[in-house]
Formats: sequence, structure tokens, C-alpha cells
Amino acid sequence: MDNDIQRVLYSEAKIQETCKRLGSQLTNVYRSKRPLVVCVLKGAVPFTADLIKRMDVYMDLDFIDVSSYHGGTKSSGTVKLLKDLDTSVAGRDVLFVDDIVDTGKTLVYLQRLLRNRGAASMKVCTLMDKPEARPSDGVKADYVGFQVPNEFLVGYGLDYQGKYRNLPYVGILKPDIYQA
Ligand code: PRP
Ligand code: MN
Ligand code: MG
Repeated sequence: MDNDIQRVLYSEAKIQETCKRLGSQLTNVYRSKRPLVVCVLKGAVPFTADLIKRMDVYMDLDFIDVSSYHGGTKSSGTVKLLKDLDTSVAGRDVLFVDDIVDTGKTLVYLQRLLRNRGAASMKVCTLMDKPEARPSDGVKADYVGFQVPNEFLVGYGLDYQGKYRNLPYVGILKPDIYQA
């Protein structure tokens, strides 16, 4: 897999350091609460696993599966709900965790879906934020690890056609891999 990567953007060590920073920030935010952490499948799995270990609070964990990329390099524009939450969000402090906010369509979809379910609060934590991919008045994540350049990234949850999610770092894919 390493052979398919042109350049490593965020090393394993750098990512772990960032999880630690976000984890202590979120520990302060949710200190007297019991947040419902919602991992957005599948890309957010590695980040969620590392982040929650750095949050020193009582919390619940649930999963929602939505998909907008359908395996390619560009957002399809339509977000599909593949698996809903098992937990009721009424009265809960919900924290969405995702690997990347790109066009923001996934985030808009999730906020819309949960809007009428009576959550006490809704926040978003993303490892990566690509603000260039959406208008300046678009959606914003509340807690961000890295602001990333407008390039197609893989690793640490981010996939290309389902591959590379298990890389321990984030990198830029060699163009010949997806231009083949
Ligand atoms: C990717 C990524 C984010 C979303 C961001 O998920 O993991 O969830 O796209 O893009 P957006 O801001 O343009 O909506 P994807 O739809 O590829 O599903 P996956 O996590 O299962 O790979
Ligand atoms: Mn995703
Ligand atoms: Mg994907």
C-alpha cells in the first residue's frame, strides 16, 4: 500500500498528537455531561477509536452509516442513509465524529436528519477540514484537527474504492492510481 502513496501528509505520530489535543478539549466541553458520540461510518472508524480513548468522560457510542462518495474521488452530491442510529437522541448532547468535512453535504444531511429528534446539543468533531471545497458560508465543524489542502487524500479511514482505510497515516495518492 505504501507504494501507492505519493506523499505522507499527516504521520501516525502527528495524528495521535492531534487526537490527544482534541480529546482533552472535548473532555473539558463534556465534563459534567454524558455525550452520545456518533461515529459516521465507515471513514470515521480509526479516528473515533483513537479520539474516544483521549476523552476522560462518561459517554455512549453509536454509529450511523451514510455515504456520499460511493467509492470514487468526487462527492456524488446525494447522501444516502445506509444505517440509522440505535439510540434515541432526545435530550442528548450529540457529538458527530467524522474523518473529513469536504463539500459539507454529509454534515448538512446529518444535521437535517437529527434536527427534529430533540437533541439537547449537536456538535461536530472532524480530524480534517477542507474549507476550499465549499462556499465560505457553508457548514462548519466545531472541533477540527487539521485544515487540509484541496487534494484527494487517503488513509486513516479515508478510502479510494474501499482501499487504504487501514493506513496509519494520511497521504496523497499517486495520480496514476486513479487515472488508470
Ligand atoms: C466521506 C468522508 C466523509 C464525507 C465527507 O465519506 O468519510 O464522511 O465523505 O464528504 P462531504 O463533506 O463532501 O460530504 P464517504 O461518503 O466516502 O463514505 P465512507 O466514510 O463510508 O467512505
Ligand atoms: Mn464518511
Ligand atoms: Mg469514502
